[in-house]
Amino acid sequence: MQIVVLGAGYVGLVSAACFAEFGHKVVCIDQDAGRVARLQKADIPIFEPGLDALVVKNSANGTLRFATDLSSAMAGADAVFIAVGTPARRGDGYADLTYVHNAARDIAKNLSRYTVIVTKSTVPVGTGRVIAEIVRTTNPEAEFDVCSNPEFLREGSAINDFMRPDRVVIGCESDRAATVMRELYRPLYLIETPMVVTSLESAELIKYAANAFLATKITFINEIADLCEKVGADVQVVAKGMGLDGRIGRKFLHAGPGYGGSCFPKDTLALIRTGQDGGAPLRLVEATEDINKKRKKNMAERVIAACGGSVSGKTIAILGVTFKPNTDDMRDSVSLDVVPMLQAQGAKIQAYDPEGMKEAATLMKDVRWCKNSYEAMQDADAVVILTEWNEFRALDIAQMKAALKTPVMVDLRNIYRPEDMRAAGFSYTSIGRK
Ligand code: UDX
Repeated sequence: MQIVVLGAGYVGLVSAACFAEFGHKVVCIDQDAGRVARLQKADIPIFEPGLDALVVKNSANGTLRFATDLSSAMAGADAVFIAVGTPARRGDGYADLTYVHNAARDIAKNLSRYTVIVTKSTVPVGTGRVIAEIVRTTNPEAEFDVCSNPEFLREGSAINDFMRPDRVVIGCESDRAATVMRELYRPLYLIETPMVVTSLESAELIKYAANAFLATKITFINEIADLCEKVGADVQVVAKGMGLDGRIGRKFLHAGPGYGGSCFPKDTLALIRTGQDGGAPLRLVEATEDINKKRKKNMAERVIAACGGSVSGKTIAILGVTFKPNTDDMRDSVSLDVVPMLQAQGAKIQAYDPEGMKEAATLMKDVRWCKNSYEAMQDADAVVILTEWNEFRALDIAQMKAALKTPVMVDLRNIYRPEDMRAAGFSYTSIGRK
């Protein structure tokens, strides 16, 4: 089939490359000519493992191309995916749908045959019907259906999440559209991937409810970690004991500094607004959002306490600034709270991250960016692990101690074992453990 994907961000790029890998002919459109030019040279503007190989392969065999002009791409398209950004609107937390509405108008102007218009972006409940209204108003003759097809991609494992999803969710209002969507996902259909075909509203809400639940699950174990510290329990063992219950599951029970990223923070806020506007306030999600926001800020307090109550004039080494490993994405990363707060208390920061430093340098000032972990630790008064990159898991403890001015480690991702670090003479604090 012929597909257009509007938006060459994380979701659009991964979707376009994977649909091409399924054998469809895909045109990925972005209004940023510079971005499109880079993609045409298979220069991928984001770090997502495996994405560059897919783009190179499918661009070479002609199943994937990039362009800025929507009109020529739309001719002959069976489906067009809206994969543009839906950032949290500054100040009130509502999803900003400007790009989505603009996309709907642009698509409407270029419809010349029956086309399925699919929202891949995370959009508030009811947006599908608004898109249909925009299209009908813009082009009364247009023959189309609107579908909701939310993505559940995790950055760093997005290709795998697309190619081997737990389920495909399709919200649509006509059999004709459902048939097109099933054909688009035929390779997954053949491996018996569960398909949830439902209404627009249910499909839109599944996405928000899933993300909000995951954010709540993380926040729950983070609060249990705080209690563990008070009663002398080990949160990793508590999480293991909980997770062995099939009704709970062991995933997303890793206590840490609080969740970040381009989705959970904005999606929880948007869902809270939907609940408030709909007269069904989601108080649990409101609590999750509030607790997480405060937790990320509290992490700086932990570092200050580990340094004897003051970091004034001290050098702090930061290992990891991205919101999670295997990505270069800095959005809502806990480092964006911790680093400025430590600097405000007089700390000098030297940091290292395998992929995030280029982006981070545009977001943080007065940080000395280092080539590797040991350089970051050189002559530092303490080292703080903010992101659990694999390369931080096998650092040489003796070499760390030799580099540091004082052997103090604040391990906010529980990478190391307290007994090992203390045996090596470290003053070691972590999350939810003695
Ligand atoms: C998330 C959802 O997982 C994905 O389904 C959705 O499509 C987009 O949002 P992503 O934001 O890429 O994906 O990353 P994820 O792996 O979910 O982690 C989000 C945040 O939660 C990160 O800051 C991570 O450090 C944190 N986290 C995750 C925890 O603190 N503990 C955990 O156990 C899991």
